[in-house]
Amino acid sequence: MNDEPLVLGIETSCDETGIGIVRGSTLLVDAVASSVDEHARFGGVVPEVASRAHLEAMVPTLERACRDAGVALRDIDAVAVTAGPGLAGALLVGVAAAKALAVGLGKPIYGVNHLAAHVAVDVLEHGPLPEPTMALLVSGGHSSLLLVPDVTGDVRPLGATIDDAAGEAFDKVARVLGLPFPGGPHIDRVAREGDRVAIDFPRGLTTGRDLDRYRFDFSFSGLKTAVSRWVQVRQAAGESVPVADVAASFQEAVVDVLTRKAVAACRDQGVDDLLIGGGVAANSRLRALAQERCDRAGIRLRVPRPGLCTDNGAMVAALGAQFVARGRTPSLLDLPADSSMPVTSVQA
Ligand code: KG4
Ligand code: ZN
Repeated sequence: MNDEPLVLGIETSCDETGIGIVRGSTLLVDAVASSVDEHARFGGVVPEVASRAHLEAMVPTLERACRDAGVALRDIDAVAVTAGPGLAGALLVGVAAAKALAVGLGKPIYGVNHLAAHVAVDVLEHGPLPEPTMALLVSGGHSSLLLVPDVTGDVRPLGATIDDAAGEAFDKVARVLGLPFPGGPHIDRVAREGDRVAIDFPRGLTTGRDLDRYRFDFSFSGLKTAVSRWVQVRQAAGESVPVADVAASFQEAVVDVLTRKAVAACRDQGVDDLLIGGGVAANSRLRALAQERCDRAGIRLRVPRPGLCTDNGAMVAALGAQFVARGRTPSLLDLPADSSMPVTSVQA
């Protein structure tokens, strides 16, 4: 008899409808329905399209999750849901579904922070989180460096992007290079054939006064513009664009800055464990360079497998289970969907 809490997690902050079920820190199922294909022709996520897709996918995804996990809804001990940050309409679908389930089943509800969930998910793969852990979260919507003494109650932002998110930069540069949306995986693939030192693209906020003022912050919009200009100049001169070299050099600029600042933050705060999460954590060069630099600095690196790095319900369930395990008070039933929920509030 396993008395660890059985928790259902719901994630709808962007374009993935995720339903995950965990027992304590054991993953039972991670069901995801993505609307990414519906956004591709717009070159980015369209909020209204995402909300509608969540509405349509919610019940079938929930049913599939329960079936695959061999779990009956009445056996669930608690429901956890992403309360924010994210797209308002999209969040609302998940929060409404979670409330309906909590009321119908007579079980507690935990409205959780999406960023904290990206950190908490790694307990499913690599066991308990060291306290504190340094977290680098990089996705299409966020790029943050977080000091995490306690993922259920104490998350401190050290820095974030001041313009584009890292994944957004990948997606925009992919567009410039004529690669499909979302561009990250395509750049990653094409870059393997390219020379990462072919073009010296700018590393934002890494020198002089910028570094002093924005020590642990990121900026990718100047890099994106530099890549566009570089490509335009070639095209205007009637020259062919060396796509693989541009992709590899751009990617190197992004991952160089991300890993450099993450390692510097660990050193600065005396933290020996770095976790990387979010969709961009799937990037092969980011994983390799982070490992190299962490090894050199004596830092232990944790990166969840790619499926747990992108948005999913398991991460929400994993964080919810930790709330239950630590005896935290549930959220109120009137908890709001908060599109700009600050990372410092881990629970709604
Ligand atoms: O976490 P995620 O699925 O959704 C958001 O919360 O945004 O992240 C999606 C982002 C996209 O921008 C996508 O291009 C990027 O992650 N991405 C990658 C890779 N795989 C996904 N970026 C670089 N390299 C990859 N292999
Ligand atoms: Zn995310």
